[in-house]
Amino acid sequence: MESVVEVKGLFTRFGSTMVHQGIDLSVERGEILSLVGGSGSGKTTLLRQMLGLETPCRGEVRVLGENLHGRNPAVLQRLRNRWGVLFQEGALFSALTVFDNVALPLRELRTLDEDIIRDLVLMKLEMVGIGARHARKVPAKLSGGMVKRVALARALALEPELLFLDEPTAGLDPDRSESFVKLIEELRRELSLTVVMVTHDLDTLVALSSRIAVLFDGKLVVLGTLREVVRSRHPFIVNFFLGERGRRALETVWNTLGIGDTSAAPAPTGSA
Ligand SMILES: Nc1ncnc2c1ncn2[C@@H]1O[C@H](COP(=O)(O)OP(=O)(O)O)[C@@H](O)[C@H]1O
Ligand SMILES: [Mg+2]
Repeated sequence: MESVVEVKGLFTRFGSTMVHQGIDLSVERGEILSLVGGSGSGKTTLLRQMLGLETPCRGEVRVLGENLHGRNPAVLQRLRNRWGVLFQEGALFSALTVFDNVALPLRELRTLDEDIIRDLVLMKLEMVGIGARHARKVPAKLSGGMVKRVALARALALEPELLFLDEPTAGLDPDRSESFVKLIEELRRELSLTVVMVTHDLDTLVALSSRIAVLFDGKLVVLGTLREVVRSRHPFIVNFFLGERGRRALETVWNTLGIGDTSAAPAPTGSA
């Protein structure tokens, strides 16, 4: 298998706080790797490390075979055109129309003429289920779910191999969240994307993850499939997955997880 992202012995420090204390992780081509952990555990910072936006105080991060902190700054610039990013906040430029938001990364290439850009933008918008009639709107005229879709279209504008998502379903109601999850899964299949995602939404996590990495106290305490993660008895995981919300999210997949402890099983639905 080919590792698309490799994190080795990573330490990240902010002042006197050591956010990451020896993280080893690799992301294989084609998978959806989810990062979970408590608030402030360093999930966003780990994504930022994978984007070359933070500097390790020890260890290294390699993406698509390149060391992000090597000597050649052109390497990072080239890599930026091979990944897409959807961050939680500041998804779109509010002064630009939907069309111009998605066109931005294409125009920055300075190699495409406007006719081609137009076709590409409309194609990307269609891909995420946004009709051409919305192209001239500004983001304030869109619902939260549509803003996310447009931001995803922009992240996919340069046809990346790798997609980074930070809390992609945060702030969406359950229906919108579910359809956004379906969209990500469809796009991953169609475009052969590798996805690294931060989420604390259990439904999103269960629906999408090939593997899950759990951050706690600066380290990855578990890294594995949902089944492997749920079977670990780490207190954070017990709390996170086997609380009431977790059990509800796991209900549909519970029987496939092979967890012996029936006292932790979700209550059967429909019982009086
Ligand atoms: N630029 C920064 N300067 C100082 N501290 C930071 C910075 N970015 C993040 N931190 C701190 O690092 C820790 C991890 O932050 P973050 O990665 O955002 O956590 P998470 O995404 O898991 O909630 C937090 O304690 C946060 O306050
Ligand atoms: Mg975060």
